[in-house]
Amino acid sequence: MTAIFAHRGFSAIAPENTLAAFQAAESAGADGIELDVQLTKDGRLAVIHDEKLNRTTNGQGYVKDWEWKDLSKLEAKYKFPEATRAIGIPSLEEIFEWMRENEIICNIELKNNEFPYPGMEEKVIRLIRQFNYEGRVIISSFNHYSLTYVYQLAPDLETAALYSSHLYMPWKYAEAIRAGAIHPNIRTVNHNIIRSSIEHGIQIRPYTVNKEKQVRWLIEEGCSALITDDPKMALEIRDSV
Ligand code: G3P
Ligand code: CA
Repeated sequence: MTAIFAHRGFSAIAPENTLAAFQAAESAGADGIELDVQLTKDGRLAVIHDEKLNRTTNGQGYVKDWEWKDLSKLEAKYKFPEATRAIGIPSLEEIFEWMRENEIICNIELKNNEFPYPGMEEKVIRLIRQFNYEGRVIISSFNHYSLTYVYQLAPDLETAALYSSHLYMPWKYAEAIRAGAIHPNIRTVNHNIIRSSIEHGIQIRPYTVNKEKQVRWLIEEGCSALITDDPKMALEIRDSV
């Protein structure tokens, strides 16, 4: 069965990468959440997509230049200013705490393609070990050097290669970098890629799949999973197929 992952949480109805969005995804019945991590000046794993705070919060500048004590006081309501309660930037640790009571898989995207964030891989792995979440997480990144480093440090964890342009035989590429999965942009996916990946034991989870027609096609193809801003829509289609 095709698993449904909520991209940055249920980001169609709640501010992306916030606890509100992850709670909404879980309530809708999503199998997994996808989130992005950046590193603060004092080495905390902050759940936020952009290197800069400007788009999604009331702060300015780079995450890497802020200390967690200040960053954690910002508002991250973004497109949903009408939300009455305070909604802030969560730490990865806070999301892991929340997962104790919520059976859901977490796809952690390391946002280390613009800044290398030395030590990020070690910190993420340490946190996964602390919570015993080895079977509940996937570590993805566009930085494939980082994924091979994760494999060296923790070969038991599943890594997933994110990519946005066409790759020749991506399942072979995944094998070469010891990734257990590929997370391709939906624009690059076709029948052969889905079938061959699955036959080679490589999970395939395209992003960001927001069109109903694409969701239906991926489910009919038996794709491992899909990553969408609207898990409710995808789950309704999955239930009807
Ligand atoms: O994990 C898939 C997707 O999140 C990658 O792109 O820019 O939304 O982080 P982006
Ligand atoms: Ca992401």
